[in-house]
Amino acid sequence: MKIKACLFDLDGVIVDTAKYHFIAWKEMSAELGFDFTEKENELLKGVSRMHSLDILLDIGKLSKTDDEKQALAEKKNQRYLDYVKQMNEEEILPGVTRFLDDLRSNGVLIALGSASKNAPLILDRIHLKEKFDVIVDGNSVSKAKPDPEVFLKGAELLDVNPKECLVFEDAQAGIEAALNGGMKVIGVGSSDNLSLADHYIPGFIKLDYELLSKWYQ
Ligand code: BG6
Ligand code: MG
Repeated sequence: MKIKACLFDLDGVIVDTAKYHFIAWKEMSAELGFDFTEKENELLKGVSRMHSLDILLDIGKLSKTDDEKQALAEKKNQRYLDYVKQMNEEEILPGVTRFLDDLRSNGVLIALGSASKNAPLILDRIHLKEKFDVIVDGNSVSKAKPDPEVFLKGAELLDVNPKECLVFEDAQAGIEAALNGGMKVIGVGSSDNLSLADHYIPGFIKLDYELLSKWYQ
């Protein structure tokens, strides 16, 4: 089936903000008195801010009141934003801008499908907003990945059948969200950490429309 639209996750796909999320959560776990590893961080990828905090507290075997959780989530976000505010277009991952332009010149529609409430700020910082026909982010969805809402909303706004949509994701929850929406999905990263995707790419350097057309005829 020919691909009419590509939907991109943001964190870890367009920019390596995944490392900033990790640093901010790791600092918080240290303050709370437990260790938080890079492997455990995989569980937080693609997951909303509050749900990430719940997973982190589970790892540390801590329980907090709702008010305490709000304060912790806010603190983590402020830390994360300290990094985001210093970002510029140099942090766009290699090959991404060229690939987006390649898709556009071949008539493929482009959407962002991110769980992040900070997505508009990040796109501003890296000057990439105008490359997307549609932006769906953590401010406009109510159900988190692996629920397909974020991607289905993108497809609806683009007026494309989900079967003709291809999602790029670095998180297991995101891959499952794409599949739950009846879409094709490429995992950005290694099949050591990710499963169920149609294909895996280490990044966008070697990917172009021609190769996509061979994979999805
Ligand atoms: C996802 C990230 O894109 O956004 C998660 O993979 C993050 O790690 C989630 O928790 C929510 O992001 P934010 O910016 O709204 O805290
Ligand atoms: Mg991601």
